[in-house]
Amino acid sequence: MKQNLTRRNFLATAGTAALAATATSALAAESSGGKPLKILGIACSPRQGMTTAKAVQAALDAAKAASPRVEVELIDLGGLSIAGWSPKPPQDDFTAILPKLQDPALGGLIIGSPSYFRGLSSLCKAFIERCAPLREPKMVLANKPVGVVAVGAFRNGGQEMTIEQIQAAMLCFGMVPVGGNAPAFQGATVLSTKDDISADELGLDTARKLGARVAEVALALAAKVA
Ligand SMILES: Cc1cc2nc3c(=O)[nH]c(=O)nc-3n(C[C@H](O)[C@H](O)[C@H](O)COP(=O)(O)O)c2cc1C
Repeated sequence: MKQNLTRRNFLATAGTAALAATATSALAAESSGGKPLKILGIACSPRQGMTTAKAVQAALDAAKAASPRVEVELIDLGGLSIAGWSPKPPQDDFTAILPKLQDPALGGLIIGSPSYFRGLSSLCKAFIERCAPLREPKMVLANKPVGVVAVGAFRNGGQEMTIEQIQAAMLCFGMVPVGGNAPAFQGATVLSTKDDISADELGLDTARKLGARVAEVALALAAKVA
């Protein structure tokens, strides 16, 4: 009897394990199938490789971990020369960035800005203005998710307003603004202390949850248009 029970338990366990393995491999096949989907991170601090770039990278790492289909790239605008829109398109560093934004494999954006006087940096605004060719003649960013990362030196230093300003601008491109699971309600809100974000576990958590959400929505929307 004891032997039978043991055998029954074994069979039940083996059956459950087999089912779980099938489900896992089906999920892996689903998410690894299809074309690669690129998530671009744009760090809009004039200071290259500093807290904004690090926070955007944390979001990108989480986006990449969401699926084997997702590829990520950080474009750090720090140190680059990018002027705002003007009737005669300026010949500056934006020229090299534009083709990456026009790539058909682009699945979504993660835009990061420092909070400057409780708003987005002028570099971020210049970058967004120069994206104007992505609206006409075709809305190439339409129906793709955008997540926003804001870093400030104060806990309530205007990160949420910075996020709102960037989200509002990206609506003009038909993008779909996303936040993330709690506590990343609106996006990533990160606190820098002496130019260091590594101690802000809560803020880094919002960055990771934002990245995962951007990847999730990018995969879902890409499946709809495929
Ligand atoms: C001109 C300027 C204005 C700033 N205004 C704010 C602000 O309103 N709120 C805030 O929390 N931090 C403010 N800061 C601090 C930056 O947001 C913070 O240091 C951020 O981490 C800088 O990003 P970076 O390290 O990527 O350059 C300001 C910094 C500068 C240079």
